[in-house]
Amino acid sequence: MIKPIKWSNGKVRMLDQSKLPLKVSYIICSDYLKVAEGIKKLWIRGAPAIGIAAAMGVALGAQKIKTKGFDEFYKALQPIFSAILSTRPTAVNIEWAINRLKKLLLSNNNLGVEKLKTLLIKEANKILKEDIETNRAIGKWGAKFIKDGDTIITHCNAGSLATGGYGTATAPMRVAVEQGKKIQVIADETRPVLQGARLTAWELMKDRIPVTLITDNTAGALMKRGEIDLAIVGTDRTARNGDVANKIGTYSLAILCKEHGIPFYVAAPTSSIDFSIPSGEFIPIEERGADEVTHISGCRIAPREVKVKNIAFDVTPAKYITAIITEKGVFKPKDLYKIQKLKIKN
Ligand code: MRU
Repeated sequence: MIKPIKWSNGKVRMLDQSKLPLKVSYIICSDYLKVAEGIKKLWIRGAPAIGIAAAMGVALGAQKIKTKGFDEFYKALQPIFSAILSTRPTAVNIEWAINRLKKLLLSNNNLGVEKLKTLLIKEANKILKEDIETNRAIGKWGAKFIKDGDTIITHCNAGSLATGGYGTATAPMRVAVEQGKKIQVIADETRPVLQGARLTAWELMKDRIPVTLITDNTAGALMKRGEIDLAIVGTDRTARNGDVANKIGTYSLAILCKEHGIPFYVAAPTSSIDFSIPSGEFIPIEERGADEVTHISGCRIAPREVKVKNIAFDVTPAKYITAIITEKGVFKPKDLYKIQKLKIKN
């Protein structure tokens, strides 16, 4: 199983996903600005993975701070928090990870700076480890919705590459396969950046999970033919009412599922649920550069100077979602708020 990011010899090592599947190469980040650049340029992407990168970036930046007392140390961390928070707005995991580190620091303000630096590295690694455990739990809860022989459609990449490992949307698929069920995965190619074609197809093939790649506009036709049994996608930020922001095209897929009576599941680790916002309207949606739409692999496919709209995420209203699969259990969107009453770490 692929692990896209790790802390290695005092540096952050990330698999450069922008080059996949043609080239498997790694980027070694020795300062937090490189980590921030990696998040912005999609060397690392996917909500949980960029949360982990954020934590590692802060830990990395902290190592170079030369102040002594807690207050000065905490002050020196502020530009690092800001640089990382400003990379990508939609996935709440970046904020989630940084808030977790802030809380940890503030509750250990009696420790010396060197101890705090070590604590940050440990916590970033803990976030990575917990993420994989979370995904396995999502897999166990979600696999019960997959029957032997099912065909599952997914959008973008919510797999190992988008997380610490194992994936969120791919977790129920992986567990179903481990349980001996024969399944087929349909991967939407996911324009404009092609995470489905470049990443989901690649990682599932590597793990010998049968996968068929389609263009995004093929999904409806396959549903009409009765060739899809269920959909499972990931999320970048889910609001308290169960509205889900995920890669652009998720909303259209959910409507297609509704029209064809196909269950539409969202795999959502609690780290990507934002209980502070009442609905999807409050989710900040990232807009990216025109070149992602006008070019494919560096090759221009649209007229020069054409006007472009490149919205990276959309919001699927809760009414289209059959259930949200978390590591704490499965919830109807309207019942998602109940998770807050369960005991959740951080
Ligand atoms: O722009 P990306 O590639 O970061 O978008 C990723 C997605 O939309 C994923 O589906 C989402 O982050 C969930 S990943 C487990």
